[in-house]
Amino acid sequence: MRHGRAALAVLALACLLGNAAASRTLQQYDCTTAKQQCESDSCKGKISFDCDPATGKTTCQCDSAGLVSCFPGSATVRTAGGQAKPMSELQLGEQVLSVGPDGALQYSPVFMWSSRRPDETTGFVRVRTDAGHNITVTPGHYLFAWRGAAAQRAAQAALGNPAGWPLVLPSQLAVGDVVPVAGAGVPGGRGGAALPVLARVTGVERVQETGVYMPHTLTGAIVVDGVVASELTSLVPPQLAGPWVSRGLAAALRLAFAALPAGSVEGAVRAVSAWAHGGSGDAVVSAPALLAPATSAA
Ligand SMILES: *[C@@H]1O[C@H](CO)[C@@H](O)[C@H](O)[C@H]1NC(C)=O
Repeated sequence: MRHGRAALAVLALACLLGNAAASRTLQQYDCTTAKQQCESDSCKGKISFDCDPATGKTTCQCDSAGLVSCFPGSATVRTAGGQAKPMSELQLGEQVLSVGPDGALQYSPVFMWSSRRPDETTGFVRVRTDAGHNITVTPGHYLFAWRGAAAQRAAQAALGNPAGWPLVLPSQLAVGDVVPVAGAGVPGGRGGAALPVLARVTGVERVQETGVYMPHTLTGAIVVDGVVASELTSLVPPQLAGPWVSRGLAAALRLAFAALPAGSVEGAVRAVSAWAHGGSGDAVVSAPALLAPATSAA
């Protein structure tokens, strides 16, 4: 029991850190030391390193199979009013389109940013689909997808159970893979509990984008640029990963807010992200959003 709880705590922390651990700016070292520091980071992918000796500004980034798990500032979510809103304008507490435990599209409040760095430019993967929805995410961010001859049938059968949807990294996707998207017919705020529909991947490419934003909803599966995405990084092993991680994190934070002064919970979340980013903490959490009614039907 003790171990189970400790493991959960570690997982929740890992979930938060995963968004941050692979990309950080170090300003307190000279470039030689910073490079050594960067290379000693546990990045399993390719490291790109940049350092300006004049200012000491250093970028250390793990950019293939990396751990950073975020969307760019130009990525859009759908707010409860039905309109698309860029990440860069999204506020904590706002209701955004997501997928609930029963697979139905529903609105859920954003209770936390585990990353929110508007000025950072980094490598992303853009996945295009035949539904016209193209999602742009960092290489370490899990998406849901099915592959193979039976993909369409398997996906259709699984639509009502997001906990069982297979997780893949965006760069592992291939043309023809099947991904869940919010159908064009999903109304803004009304229309009953529609399930996502399926689309085929038509292209996968590497792009550079600005802004590193990772919002967390109470469902753990957020609709970004029309595609249903996980809210998880590859730091969480796929056999453990699932929408329940976000829900567990929300539950843990709710308990913390109930037991401790709000300021100290917010401070702890900030401190974890500051430690992970090597700068000022950019993770923020909203107690009111956590305590809001869980969801409202789409
Ligand atoms: C997605 O990409 C396709 C090209 O594959 C393009 O025709 C379409 O307009 C893009 N969709 C959006 C919403 O930008």
